[in-house]
Amino acid sequence: MASVTSLSDSVHQRLAAALSAALPQAGSADPLLRRSDRADFQANGILALAKKEKANPRELATQVVSGVESGELIKDVEVSGPGFLNITLTDRAITANLAARYADDSGRLGVPHTEQPGTTVIDYAQPNVAKEMHVGHLRSAVIGDAVVKLLEFTGENVVRRHHIGDWGTQFGMLIQYLEEHPHELDHKADEVSGEEAMSNLDRLYKAARKLFDADEEFKTRARRRVVDLQAGDPRTLAMWQKFVDESKIYFFSVFEKLDMEIRDADIVGESGYNDMLAETCRLLEESGVAVRSEGALCVFFDDIKGPDGNPVPLIVQKSDGGYGYAATDLSAIRDRVFNLKADSIIYVVDARQSLHFKMVFETARKAGWLGDDVKAHQLAFGTVLGKDGKPFKTREGETVRLVDLLDEAIDRASAVVREKAQDLSEEEIAERGTQVGVGAVKYADLSTSANRDYKFDLDQMVSLNGDTSVYLQYAYARIQSILRKAGASRPAAHPELELHEAERALGLHADSFAATVTEAATEYAPHKLAAYLYQLASLYTTFYDKCPVLKAETQEQIENRLFLCDVTARTLHRGMDLLGIRTPERL
Ligand code: ARG
Repeated sequence: MASVTSLSDSVHQRLAAALSAALPQAGSADPLLRRSDRADFQANGILALAKKEKANPRELATQVVSGVESGELIKDVEVSGPGFLNITLTDRAITANLAARYADDSGRLGVPHTEQPGTTVIDYAQPNVAKEMHVGHLRSAVIGDAVVKLLEFTGENVVRRHHIGDWGTQFGMLIQYLEEHPHELDHKADEVSGEEAMSNLDRLYKAARKLFDADEEFKTRARRRVVDLQAGDPRTLAMWQKFVDESKIYFFSVFEKLDMEIRDADIVGESGYNDMLAETCRLLEESGVAVRSEGALCVFFDDIKGPDGNPVPLIVQKSDGGYGYAATDLSAIRDRVFNLKADSIIYVVDARQSLHFKMVFETARKAGWLGDDVKAHQLAFGTVLGKDGKPFKTREGETVRLVDLLDEAIDRASAVVREKAQDLSEEEIAERGTQVGVGAVKYADLSTSANRDYKFDLDQMVSLNGDTSVYLQYAYARIQSILRKAGASRPAAHPELELHEAERALGLHADSFAATVTEAATEYAPHKLAAYLYQLASLYTTFYDKCPVLKAETQEQIENRLFLCDVTARTLHRGMDLLGIRTPERL
């Protein structure tokens, strides 16, 4: 694979070299290069540096300028203001660098792999067994999937973990009910659709709940069942497994609807750590990290107090001996660090669980399970809001089922596709409608930074104007249609041609794909990639307005513009793919 150095990196290198030649005592100083409106780049680092070294900034800047050779790469450097540098590249460098990206057959557009990949364990897409998936589960799945793709693209070794809620007291009730009504989940697993699986579970859950609330004796039997489950009684476990299997049929159907690949082997739910729980508690208690308080095993923190001023503990084991969410998460950390050899552990979980993770991480640090060399990070996401700005609910005030929401998005999107469709068959409209609808939901989620709340507004999401996936998908499809019309399979670049301003802007932005991907991956920030892609499509629109492609003046110019179109399309395609969004060839 041929990796290509970004234009900004090349410029940076030259400026940094000239800077340390002009000011040797500053060591390897950063010229702070930015894209700029006035020139292609502006370097803002000289001012602060001159101040620090007691040099005259304008003089230093002038010295740096004379140390930078103009030629193939740099057309012009000039000092501006109190000591900024404005840098303009040659047209040739822009086209040639993009041509090198274009020549990379791996589909990576010359983006290099990181030099020292580590192992990241990412905990995302973690629904709960025997429960409906709702809009909150959307965020974890969509953000997690994009981060997985981004990290893998940079070369990181990624281990996915779906920490599903498959353990706990409610299973006592469910299993006991099934024991007493044995045929309720009888069928061959592969005969059941996701929807049926969910309605089976839902029916069973409601019936069990009703009995549990009404019948004291059933309640007692259900409670005994929890003890059997935790003790590993084979018959109880076999029944529990039925619930897990039935739920997985349902989960997989929803993930498929989300156009997301979730692998069975990566599903390691709360139950997967059951054998470690007792030991986790023992280690915490022996080391003094946790103490007994009113029978429960607790960890206290100096800086975490409730409204009454009393410390709020992390409860690892309840006074009745039951293990909770914290014990499972602490055991999972031990597994992830010591068995999976994680350098980083990321949790894509609702911001409302932040206190839990803060306490869990701190406990694991105190216990020595998380060393200084291991990063633990909650990629906390905000709440999905309705148009009224309150947490998203149905008109009846219930939480919104994820499937219903996706179905509605697909309906809306299909209507948009149908309206614009020129030569699409009904079948194609349905397929594109799904890709556009699911893409719209994912993009809306990914284009705001994860920690913020956002409003779920389908009208806006499937709008053709503005920062939406449909806009990006149409830009992509339009380029494909131009390329088809031109009959161009691999249009040649012509670095000798002069570029229009709009071509330069598009070219420079396309070249910065590598830097954007690196930044989005290292910061776990898919929204930065989304913003990049939106800008790419906008710059393409301007280019297309200003620069005739098929009617350009010369054959070389036609080819070069087709080449620019194709680079843009490939970048859009790769970028959208990293966000988990399809780019149909025709729309
Ligand atoms: N199942 C949980 C929920 O639906 C999310 C699990 C998050 N992951 C974890 N390791 N605690 O809220």
